[in-house]
Formats: sequence, structure tokens, C-alpha cells
Amino acid sequence: MTTFLISGGRGLVGKSLAQMLRRQGHKVYKLTRYPKRKGHVQWNPEKQSIDEKHLHKVEVIINLAGANIAERKWSKNRKVELINSRVSSINFLKSSAKKMPKLNYYISASGINCYGYNKHTEKIESDEYGDDFLSELVQEWERASNSFQEVCPVAILRIAMVVDKRGGALQKIMKTVRLGLGAPLGSGKQYLPWIHIKDLCRMFLYCIEHKKEGTYNAANGYISNEEFMRTLTTKMKRPFFFPAIPRPILSLFLGEMSTMLTESLKVSNEKIKNAGFEFFHLNFDSAITEIVKKEA
Ligand SMILES: NC(=O)c1ccc[n+]([C@@H]2O[C@H](COP(=O)([O-])OP(=O)(O)OC[C@H]3O[C@@H](n4cnc5c(N)ncnc54)[C@H](OP(=O)(O)O)[C@@H]3O)[C@@H](O)[C@H]2O)c1
Repeated sequence: MTTFLISGGRGLVGKSLAQMLRRQGHKVYKLTRYPKRKGHVQWNPEKQSIDEKHLHKVEVIINLAGANIAERKWSKNRKVELINSRVSSINFLKSSAKKMPKLNYYISASGINCYGYNKHTEKIESDEYGDDFLSELVQEWERASNSFQEVCPVAILRIAMVVDKRGGALQKIMKTVRLGLGAPLGSGKQYLPWIHIKDLCRMFLYCIEHKKEGTYNAANGYISNEEFMRTLTTKMKRPFFFPAIPRPILSLFLGEMSTMLTESLKVSNEKIKNAGFEFFHLNFDSAITEIVKKEA
């Protein structure tokens, strides 16, 4: 049995991951600003305070904390919040690691949108960061995580769009599809990297069990936006509209954030596969079939 501390553990990924770890007999503490039950540890990274009671037991940290990227438009202030909620939290967590004598591994979420956008080549982990806002955010986020190497081995998962009907982007898209409003976005030709929640949790566990270090793209694959919507609407037995929702409309409502939906990104998942990890879902059809089946 290993004792885990998951920062941001009450979020979409944290809930599934904690459930998987607990089923395997591990002890999980969730680090949260708003504790609601036993097993929650309170912190306030802004005020640099943390409940120290259980820290001496922690062996592995899983860092998932950060203000939600897609929650609201990226104003200047919001951009600062998106960065600080990640970087300052990690820095504070690192200073709190002094109270964790058993800590032997740190693994953190990061984002796949770090290479800039591209239509042609599959990006690999050693490629350069892009120069758009998300790339800059990820670069700072990863720099903070990598500074944990002063304390213990570090792994970073560059997470693609998480496919889970209980939250995140897919939940919102499924709502519009249920209303009969499923349509591609922008040109519909842009590629979107994705990962099924179960494979993401399995990947975290794999890295932890095998003490993998370094940075890994966490994506089952990538799919064009049109294909994504066509597959989803077909599985949900709802209409699929074409032409697509035009880019300027998305930009009007979402501002700079719309680039996440309208620009193209292809990424390779060879590095984690070469490290021995096997994805459960080999294509988007399989992932969506499982999700929609569970809904029925
Ligand atoms: N879901 C995706 O598609 C996706 C894709 C790429 C990367 N990621 C990254 O993976 C991580 C986990 O994703 P998720 O979908 O589980 O995110 P989520 O549901 O938004 O949960 C993130 C957690 O971070 C904590 N948090 C929010 N604002 C914070 C702040 N200002 N300071 C400290 N903690 C704060 C919250 O915990 P409390 O409210 O309990 O404190 C929240 O539950 C995130 O960092 C996210 O950016 C997610």
C-alpha cells in the first residue's frame, strides 16, 4: 500500500484516479482548498497554508491543481491566474515536501497544447515549445514541476482533451448533441488530440508503478473535429449538422480560447508506448462507444 497526496484531487481527473488507486488498496489524500470530507487535506496555496497532519505519511504526490483553462475567457487577469494557480501551487507544494520524509516520487499534469499549432507533423516530447499563450503556460508549469527533481524523481504527463462524460469538454459537447445541435467547429478539418479518462488514469498508474521519469504526451491519438462530431452524433443517435460553426462566431464568444478548438495539433504517443504502456482504447470509436453505452 502506498500513500498518495493528490493536489486538485477533487477535479475531473482526480476523482477517477483516486477511485482507481483506492480500489487497488492505496491510501489517498486529496489536497483541496475546500475540504468536504475525511481524506481531504486543506491547503491555500495563495496564503501558503496547509494542514500538516498527514504529510509525514505521503510517499507519492500527484499534482493536478490549476484553475480551469476553459472555464472563462482569457483576459489579462485570467491568464495570470491560470499560470499562478499552477506555478505558485507547485512551488508551495515543494516547500511543504520538507514535511514529507517518505516522499519518493512526483508526477504532474501538464497540457498537450504546448507545441504551438501545426497541421503537418506529429509533435514529439523533445520538440520546442510554441509561442502562443498555452505553450508559455505549459513551459512555466513544467519548469516548476521539474524543479521537484531537487526532492525526488519527476514525471510529467502532457494531457490531451480528456474524454469523460462526467465533466470537461466532452460533457458540454454531449449536452449540445443531445439538443440536436451537433456540428463541427471552424473548418472541421483541424486535428484534436484526445485521451480517454480510463487510459489517462492507467497511464498515471503505469508511470508511478514503473517509476518513469521525464515528459510524456498523454494522448490515445488525434482526430479531426468533423470526424469527432460525426462519431459522437452517430453513437448518440442525434443529428449531425453541416456546414460547421464558423470560426469568427467561436472567436466572438470564446476570444483567444477558441484557438484550442479551431487550430490543429497532431502529437505522437510513441514515447510512452516504447516505455511499455499499452492503451486500452485504440481508436476514438472504441472510446466513445464505451462512454455512450454507459449512458444508455
Ligand atoms: N480535463 C482535461 O481535458 C485536461 C486536459 C489537459 C490538461 N488538464 C490538466 O490536468 C489537471 C487536472 O484536470 P481536471 O480536468 O481534473 O481539472 P479540474 O476538474 O478543473 O480540477 C482541477 C482542480 O484544481 C484545483 N484548483 C482550481 N483552481 C485552483 C487554484 N487557484 N489554486 C489551486 N488549486 C486550484 C481545484 O481543486 P479544489 O477546488 O478542490 O481546490 C480543482 O478541482 C489540470 O491541471 C488541467 O489543466 C486537463
